[in-house]
Amino acid sequence: MQKQAELYRGKAKTVFSTENPDLLILEFRNDTSAGDGARIEQFDRKGMVNNKFNYFIMQKLQQAGIPTQMERLLSDTEALVKKLDMVPVECVVRNRAAGSLVKRLGVEEGIPLNPPLFDLFLKDDAHHDPMINESYCETFGWVSQQHLARMRELTLQANTVLSQLFDDAGLILVDFKLEFGLFRGEVVLGDEFSPDGARLWDKSTMAKMDKDRFRQSLGGVVEAYEEVAHRLGVPLD
Ligand code: C5P
Repeated sequence: MQKQAELYRGKAKTVFSTENPDLLILEFRNDTSAGDGARIEQFDRKGMVNNKFNYFIMQKLQQAGIPTQMERLLSDTEALVKKLDMVPVECVVRNRAAGSLVKRLGVEEGIPLNPPLFDLFLKDDAHHDPMINESYCETFGWVSQQHLARMRELTLQANTVLSQLFDDAGLILVDFKLEFGLFRGEVVLGDEFSPDGARLWDKSTMAKMDKDRFRQSLGGVVEAYEEVAHRLGVPLD
């Protein structure tokens, strides 16, 4: 499958059309951004690690009955995926307090959240991805209530599957973000799951092993991503 036109260039991935109108190619670049793209740096191997990491996780989710857009890996940095009509809303689950929740509520970082929190954010860089809720989705028509309910159900199901997977690898799945789209009327998981869009802490040391290493200038960004991949058994080379 060959890349055709560049359809969209995001902060860490580029999306290309293919000769099949139902399929796209996702290219994972080495770019890493923070603060809505205010800071961007390249890290050797990051595109490859995230592409293979994402493929591994999407397979696990698919096996658990969560429909995903993933078709197959094409190269170290490229994957073939179904073309979805993307919903411009991000679904976030939080098992422990961190990030924007700590800022917003002033709660202590790391406290367990039981039951886990489910948040929605609008994908809108110009307005810094504002927090929204179901009522906003209905009023502004971003996604139907029926599809939103399915997105929530699939996100919480993914949390159950992935919390166990990371726990078995000695990691805490603190929080993560998923994006969905529609394929022939069905809600399907799109975009990616990688340490760029999740918080993963070492279970014994509580060391941060995700994009917070970049956001907080802790260093060892790709080394942490590779360590997570290694512990999960993601084949990298
Ligand atoms: O920033 P916040 O604490 O709300 O992020 C929650 C989770 O969602 C984190 O794992 C973060 O990496 C992810 N996220 C993301 N893309 C965004 C916002 C959050 O991947 N635009």
